Amino acid sequence: MSYPYQIASLEQYHADYKKSVDDPEGFWGSIAENFEWRKKHDKVLEWNFTEPKVEWFKGAKLNITENCIDRHLKTMADKPAIIWEPNNPEERVRIVTYARLHKRVCQVAQMLVNNGVKKGDRVCIYMGMVPELAYAILGCARIGAIHSVIFGGFSAQSIADRLYDAQAEFIITCDGAYRGAKDIPLKSVIDDALIGNRTVKKVFVYTRTRIPVSMLKGRDLWWEDEMEYAETQVEKDGVVSFPAVEMDAEDPLFILYTSGSTGKPKGVVHSSAGYMVWTNYTFVNVFQYQPGQVHFCTADIGWITGHSYIVYGPLSAGGTSLMFEGVPTYPDAGRFWDIVDRHKVNILYTAPTAIRSLMGFGLDPLKGKDLSSLKILGTVGEPINEEAWHWYDEHIGKKKCPIVDTWWQTENGGVLISNLAGITPSKPSWATLPMPGVQPILVDENGKEVTEKDEHGMLKGNLCIKAPWPSILRTTYGDHERCRINYFATYPNLYFTGDGALKDADGNYRITGRVDDVLNVSGHRIGTAEVENAINMHAGVVESAVVGYPHDIKGQGIYAYVIYGHMHGDAEHTKKDILQTVTRVIGAIAKPDKIQFVTGLPKTRSGKIMRRILRKIAEGEMTNLGDTSALLDPTVVEEIKNGKL
Ligand code: PRX
Repeated sequence: MSYPYQIASLEQYHADYKKSVDDPEGFWGSIAENFEWRKKHDKVLEWNFTEPKVEWFKGAKLNITENCIDRHLKTMADKPAIIWEPNNPEERVRIVTYARLHKRVCQVAQMLVNNGVKKGDRVCIYMGMVPELAYAILGCARIGAIHSVIFGGFSAQSIADRLYDAQAEFIITCDGAYRGAKDIPLKSVIDDALIGNRTVKKVFVYTRTRIPVSMLKGRDLWWEDEMEYAETQVEKDGVVSFPAVEMDAEDPLFILYTSGSTGKPKGVVHSSAGYMVWTNYTFVNVFQYQPGQVHFCTADIGWITGHSYIVYGPLSAGGTSLMFEGVPTYPDAGRFWDIVDRHKVNILYTAPTAIRSLMGFGLDPLKGKDLSSLKILGTVGEPINEEAWHWYDEHIGKKKCPIVDTWWQTENGGVLISNLAGITPSKPSWATLPMPGVQPILVDENGKEVTEKDEHGMLKGNLCIKAPWPSILRTTYGDHERCRINYFATYPNLYFTGDGALKDADGNYRITGRVDDVLNVSGHRIGTAEVENAINMHAGVVESAVVGYPHDIKGQGIYAYVIYGHMHGDAEHTKKDILQTVTRVIGAIAKPDKIQFVTGLPKTRSGKIMRRILRKIAEGEMTNLGDTSALLDPTVVEEIKNGKL
């Protein structure tokens, strides 16, 4: 497979960028020719950001799995689609060829149909990082069922909320998952999530850890049994087939829940055609992927990065995607480097948090590891500090591998701002230039374009995008108004990212972080309101306020100020009780790093918490707290300052 749309020079980037802005329909219409359609589009793009309504490749018919699998079978049936590296390095690596992937995905599709799953039904997937997770996703896509993957770190309560919001009728899970030294009892969490649930009809259980699980008659099914039966249906005389269901370009492909500034996570909906085109286009261009290369994205498929750059992007490009079940520090901090060495990884795409944490182990874990196969490095999920960038460049890339700093969001589907590896210049800790089709704009609080440079010659403002790219979110599941208010109402006719950014004289962007009440902890997105809700559910908590603070490894840590009533035990016990409650309500990923008990919170006369002050104190800024004259009771600030952790 070759990629005629792969950008080969800086000049071509500028020319393509210009074309994509001057004539988006012509530009994306010609990119679309590189995919397999059951029927071509009637119109490339129709949109307005007021409703909002965005339609790409209108009238086209397709199935994304035919683009990710079937079209590669003629020439690449025996080539690896997925290389699976298990948590335990002693266990057998699995190499899944395109032919095998095709068979497994056909089996899953058949298994789902056998059990009553139809196009448009929501299937929740809660699994560890096993190849079966990729089969499950693609099996859903093959029959047009809408998958909604939930990260394995979320609690039963979080799952229950998402199941309810999506009105999901089916679940695919595992008995358990291995993560480093831990065994996570996934099915048991699902059982808890299903207490009182009225929509879920069937739960498919894949066996991974073989811990004891409860299996309810009529509801719970063993994946292996169902797949075995499906195999007899999809394979006849050695020929495997399960006809993919024809999808409209705008039919939803999946829902992925993500945190916002309000308490309840939103179900971001992505469409079939636009998402396919964008993940493929960005995969091929950002990473400058060459056929045959091994691409290792270390994200979990529970997040958007895994969806786009483990599954859909690499597979639609006929690539080889390395999927890793474990964690970077198990059995030791050399695990990534061992994987790179053994599998001759060419592209490594990871998070700044992982880099910072591995840096902390020094250079010993790198000893004896041959990293010479690496050609390109990437980062995603949070701003990368210069120190980590240089360490990555020097010790992993040996100063020979371009680093792509890719900025994007769950709502975007794929990379929006990034350098193109080896093609456009990199700049440490800058995401740099927009992808073709992406038109960023920096605005002030009133939505006016920022035109005045600061003392360093930079423009500084809130990052918005002026026009739709193919994989912009289409809605938030079940609540379109929420989508409009969250992303399209802050500034009329603009998509608002929630991030702040700088722009230099060469047009490069540096993302400075969220300007709303969303935290980025180890690259995981968590709303402060969500954490506050969870803390407030703990008996005894009167009120709480949660802010972020700089954390050496995680990027941001969670700092909670809590007003507490009568304590059952001492303060340290009470803190642990609160952490336990947060773990139950959201999951361990949302546990505050610091809890400070206070007797009051800084509020205005109208009762609004002045988070700015709390944020500054959490950051260690004690003197320059800004204007506190609006506070109802300024003495509480002194108390909070004195008790800072
Ligand atoms: O603040 C930005 C940060 O992560 C947020 C999006 O989080 P999520 O939807 O979970 O998606 C993460 C993976 C795509 C953004 O609003 N972010 C993401 N990438 C970068 C980044 N911040 C700085 N630099 C990046 N490269």
